[in-house]
Amino acid sequence: MSNTVIVGTQWGDEGKGHVIDLLARQASAVVRYQGGDNAGHTVIVEGEKFVFHLVPSGILYPDKKCIVGNGVVVDPESLLGELVSLKNRGISLTNFFLSNHAHVVMPYHKKAEEIEESLRGKSRIGTTKKGIGPAYVDKMGRRGIRIADLLEKNILEEKLKFNLTFWTKFCEVNYSISSVLSQYLEYGSKLKPYITDTSLLIYELAKRGENILFEGAQGTLLDVDHGTYPYVTSSSSGAGGVCIGTGIGPGKIDRVLGVAKAYTTRVGAGPFPTESFGETGNILRERGKEYGATTGRPRRCGWFDGVILKYAVRINGLNELIITKLDVLDKLEKIRICVAYRYKNKIIYDFPADLGILTECQPIYEEMEGWRTDTSSLRIFSDLPRAARKYLQRIEEIGEISICLFSVGPQREEMISMNQIPDSLT
Ligand code: IMP
Repeated sequence: MSNTVIVGTQWGDEGKGHVIDLLARQASAVVRYQGGDNAGHTVIVEGEKFVFHLVPSGILYPDKKCIVGNGVVVDPESLLGELVSLKNRGISLTNFFLSNHAHVVMPYHKKAEEIEESLRGKSRIGTTKKGIGPAYVDKMGRRGIRIADLLEKNILEEKLKFNLTFWTKFCEVNYSISSVLSQYLEYGSKLKPYITDTSLLIYELAKRGENILFEGAQGTLLDVDHGTYPYVTSSSSGAGGVCIGTGIGPGKIDRVLGVAKAYTTRVGAGPFPTESFGETGNILRERGKEYGATTGRPRRCGWFDGVILKYAVRINGLNELIITKLDVLDKLEKIRICVAYRYKNKIIYDFPADLGILTECQPIYEEMEGWRTDTSSLRIFSDLPRAARKYLQRIEEIGEISICLFSVGPQREEMISMNQIPDSLT
């Protein structure tokens, strides 16, 4: 029995949805702890594709509680759209719960983000334009509107008046209080059946010894504190965000599993030492279908970065690692893996804390033989070509961490145990 965190070890899009969907089988609940509908978690079951933005990736199991924790910022229109579309596809929502303390993304947040990105000009972050940053700014500024407020007309009206005055002073936003108020009260009444004190719900599940999976969105390098600031998202996407974003105490977390793609991708601006601008980048993008699940933007692609892996192991206290999309490398003659950075005349093994240094770092690669064999039909580690096994083992050595699962395709059965399912999940 264990409470397990699933966290991205790169810049997001590592395939966490696929992992959660698989591991949810052994859990009683799946909980989102940060981010908002900037996330896009893809799950493919029997050829049917589901993309979740706010709803936890465990929703396809009718008996699993799916909880959106207090640390998430929720765009009610987007959430309701997702719920309706799931309902229309025959998915039960009776086990869906939404924190009364989650903050609400408002229309002026999106407008403010648009204005800020355009003011930044060439230094723009390349956000998803979902209003995530400004919603977290309001939360920290102690003026945010929380989900519970959508159920209380007087409170919502008072907060809205203040917020509209506030944002009008900074941005050219111009909203009528009455129309925003009635729209958000309507959202509140539609969301009411799901709203609850999720921290209490999680506490009770943990007290009963139920298995809880905490589903990270984005990745370690997009974490507002530990990522490549300012080219990050506005939440604590690392494992440390779980306690803040759900109300569970640190002592109740048993395991942290990191998810990494067999190569690296990034969407939006910011440093990316192993980025490939040439043919390799194009091959990875096309074979890996590396286009944003939320925005459709082409992802920047490059080789696996072992320096980043070591950093993610450290920041998240990872117990084990899951490698996704190994099959994307199937056709390559040679595969490179970054083992250190060169900065001026120095060799660096630890991820630099200073963005200026990171920007100037050149990757130092080891070159490995490709396996040039289709791995997508293989289901056992020992059946993998020798070069593919060596590649996974080299990742383990560099990260000083064991790999428990790897995937050779997007379907449930294409996620393969390296030895066995981690003890904690059986
Ligand atoms: P925001 O989260 O929309 O504010 O965007 C901030 C940065 O995080 C941008 O570079 C986005 O591309 C990136 N980002 C946000 N969500 C995701 C995600 O789910 N996957 C990958 N990148 C993301």
